[in-house]
Amino acid sequence: MASARQRCATCCALVIFGAGGDLTKRLITPALYNLAKQNLLPERFAIVGVDHNERTTDDWRNGLHDFLEETVKSGKGEFEAKEIDEKVWGELASKMSYIAGDFLKDETYANVRECLQQLNDRQQLEGNAVFYLAAADRFFGPIVDMLGKSGLAKEDQGWRRVVIEKPFGHDLPSAKALNARILKVLREDQIYRIDHFLGKETVQNIMALRFANGLFEPIWNRDRIDHVQITVAESIGIGTRGKFYEQTGALRDMVPNHLFQLVAMTAMEPPASFDADEIRTKKADVFKAVHPLTPKDAVRGQYGPGEIGKQKVAGYREEANVDQNSGVETYVALRLNIDNWRWAGVPFYLRTGKRLPDRWTEIAIHFKHAPLALFRDTPGGTLGPDWLILQIQPEEGIRLRFNAKRPGTEMHIESVAMDFKYSDWFNQPPAVGYETLLYDCFAGDQTLFQRADQVEAAWAVVQPVLDAWGKEPPKDFPNYASGSAGPKCADELIQRDGNSWRSVR
Ligand SMILES: NC(=O)c1ccc[n+]([C@@H]2O[C@H](COP(=O)([O-])OP(=O)(O)OC[C@H]3O[C@@H](n4cnc5c(N)ncnc54)[C@H](OP(=O)(O)O)[C@@H]3O)[C@@H](O)[C@H]2O)c1
Repeated sequence: MASARQRCATCCALVIFGAGGDLTKRLITPALYNLAKQNLLPERFAIVGVDHNERTTDDWRNGLHDFLEETVKSGKGEFEAKEIDEKVWGELASKMSYIAGDFLKDETYANVRECLQQLNDRQQLEGNAVFYLAAADRFFGPIVDMLGKSGLAKEDQGWRRVVIEKPFGHDLPSAKALNARILKVLREDQIYRIDHFLGKETVQNIMALRFANGLFEPIWNRDRIDHVQITVAESIGIGTRGKFYEQTGALRDMVPNHLFQLVAMTAMEPPASFDADEIRTKKADVFKAVHPLTPKDAVRGQYGPGEIGKQKVAGYREEANVDQNSGVETYVALRLNIDNWRWAGVPFYLRTGKRLPDRWTEIAIHFKHAPLALFRDTPGGTLGPDWLILQIQPEEGIRLRFNAKRPGTEMHIESVAMDFKYSDWFNQPPAVGYETLLYDCFAGDQTLFQRADQVEAAWAVVQPVLDAWGKEPPKDFPNYASGSAGPKCADELIQRDGNSWRSVR
């Protein structure tokens, strides 16, 4: 739960643009099912799917049901339920209707309008509607324009909210242009820019860890912290997303959104309340304080062929829909300095890449060394650093590494670990990560959604690197083998400060 306030999902219709797409199938529908199962959907609720593929409402909902069923059987995918509760599904499905129509045609919006009117009359939805843009980003601006033109964005009867998926822009100018375009139609408090990383319990828990404990905040600063390492590693390659990835690359795809959300949660100042704007202002302040990046603060890599889990895998340039000489990066590492009183002089190292040995996401806080004098001549030799590791995925928990004396006659120091695992303490219902975000939309809580200035501040940080890389194609790609820990230049980046990456599993 994002806020300490009491929130309540208000009755509404959820209109999904892109109802036949991957996101709707794989993440939105399972999240709606999980909410229904926990009785967390609004009491009066309807779902309207919009997509240009001709199909009936029955075909649409049966297709979604079949997909869920396949996921349960295969055990693969984000939907982790052991079985589908057909009663819950039946109730959810009874709320669904489908409209075949093109996002760019007026008649589609006339049909949506008529459908909403009928649902309102039948179910007393009080005129409330969430429009979820689960469509390719090129449609974000045009759909919002059409919502404005058709009157659907107007709050004559109830509220109207618009959820916008990522990517929000592909650089600073395009993000600014998109903000300016949608803000002609909508107020900021109607816009829910989503970054599904924020739906993860472990990410939300960073706030609780930092601010609900007297223990951490006093040491959460440059006096006690040496540096911070944030890793988002994936073992998968780009799969069938070659066309998309060739236009995007790892920097755009991961850094100003997912990685920066983790930076903001780690580095923000304590908010005075759970007010959405208060929290979002504190996060935006982090990016505003980042020292302008120069090209030497960033390195890039591209995976070549190699082995993952003893299986041979192809290099990026051999993937479908990828140029054989592609200069697109699949790995990026950055060094950020945050020029404020809390963090000046504490480097934040960020890395993300595909085809690394394992899938994991973590924030690792490296504390300053204890003075060595007392232990200088003990057999343990050097003291290891103290680490606090916030494990985001797949393991969800917190690990504290510190030094302890090994039992015996001598003062032999060894690094040991204390572990907290979410699953040991909490009985968590299965979740795909979109549940909280959808619930927050229905409840009108924008805390976990990005405000225009946050998005622009994040793009502004990476823009100098995008510019430099755009001008200078890489000369050494591919520069890391699939299954390796990443390119050598990433090691060199961190070694310049006398540090080294935590080892890759
Ligand atoms: N998929 C994910 O895991 C994921 C994760 C995070 C964010 N996102 C974001 O979520 C959004 C949706 O992604 P997605 O993977 O679901 O995309 P998608 O599979 O391409 O889904 C979009 C749907 O819209 C339909 N469509 C295309 N043009 C249309 C038009 N002019 N009028 C009406 N319908 C049209 C597509 O039909 P056709 O396919 O037949 O053209 C498709 O059914 C994107 O912005 C993406 O970046 C996706």
